[in-house]
Amino acid sequence: MPATITAIAHYAPPEVIPNSFFEEYLDTSNEWITSRTGIEERHFLGEGGISKMILPAAKQCLEQREISPEEIDLVIVCTVTPDHMFPSTASIVAHELGAKKAWGFDMEAACSGFLFGLANAKAMVESGVAKKVLLCGADKMTSIVDMNDRSHAILFGDAAGVCIVEESNDPDMGILDMILYMDGAGKSSLHMKSGGSVSPPSHETVDRKEHYVYQDGQQVFKAAVTGMADVSLEIIEKNNLKPEDVAWLVPHQANMRIISATANRMGIERDQVMINIQKYGNTTAATIPMAISEWYQAGKVKQGDNLVLSSFGAGYAWGAILLKWNMNQK
Ligand code: UT7
Repeated sequence: MPATITAIAHYAPPEVIPNSFFEEYLDTSNEWITSRTGIEERHFLGEGGISKMILPAAKQCLEQREISPEEIDLVIVCTVTPDHMFPSTASIVAHELGAKKAWGFDMEAACSGFLFGLANAKAMVESGVAKKVLLCGADKMTSIVDMNDRSHAILFGDAAGVCIVEESNDPDMGILDMILYMDGAGKSSLHMKSGGSVSPPSHETVDRKEHYVYQDGQQVFKAAVTGMADVSLEIIEKNNLKPEDVAWLVPHQANMRIISATANRMGIERDQVMINIQKYGNTTAATIPMAISEWYQAGKVKQGDNLVLSSFGAGYAWGAILLKWNMNQK
């Protein structure tokens, strides 16, 4: 049987930051931000790390699925902003949640973190290594973004999306296909210069602001428009789906113009696309599970719906996953 998502929830911290916040101290405007990105507001966490956002969403998943934390046997946390360099945030989440029988790990594929994590969870479940995977996509981007740089500060937000992945009860429903890519040549356009083993933290690296996200926006934009649109089209063609067979396109939320280009390329109407970038900005590994969770909570995702999840981000790492929605199993 294929693996499937059997519970899903999200958490966005209560503090909402509108575009006007940046107008007060940066040379920017609400008009520039909304027209270039589609973002109107985002949520900031303040105190604490990503585990603080993951835990409420993880508890909701356990309640939805009506299982105890001891039934989770694997925790995967996809993030570029772990609570600490080590131990893994997965171990912190498992401990705080009471998932005493779980092992786990953090994995990093930036904005494609959730997709790559879902591919991992699928492989673990389908190989029999794990039965119930708690898969978390979470980022506290405010911890790595220079709030005095107008080209970066306005883009990002903090949030978490969490789901449970386990075996589907239907051979034709669940995570049916995936196409994932990586090209390390993209490093020059999107990276963090210091803090890793090549350039450990020092007073100098802090003075040079090398612990913040570095992004050449235009380069990434060009690569993302092509990469995300191509792979999204590739997965529907590979699976002989017409645009009207796709109930929902679930794109990574980095820029409204990238989302529109992807939908246009696939021939998909805007009302078939999950879009919440206006409310949250780019929350990196959280965007996709958060969108699915919001739409599911609103009753807009139905049993048997074809969802195409697609993302593009640092690496470059990008891809698409075809998921036939199947949550109704006890
Ligand atoms: O999620 C991971 C992957 N990341 C992405 O997918 C992001 C991809 N890139 C983008 O979404 C866009 O490139 C950005 C939203 C980051 C930037 O939009 P853009 O249309 O590519 O703008 P730009 O960087 O080409 O800048 C155009 C102008 C520049 O001024 P000049 O040189 O033309 O005078 C910038 O300095 O806009 C200026 N600018 C701003 N102006 C007002 C840059 N940021 C701002 C700002 N407010 N916040």
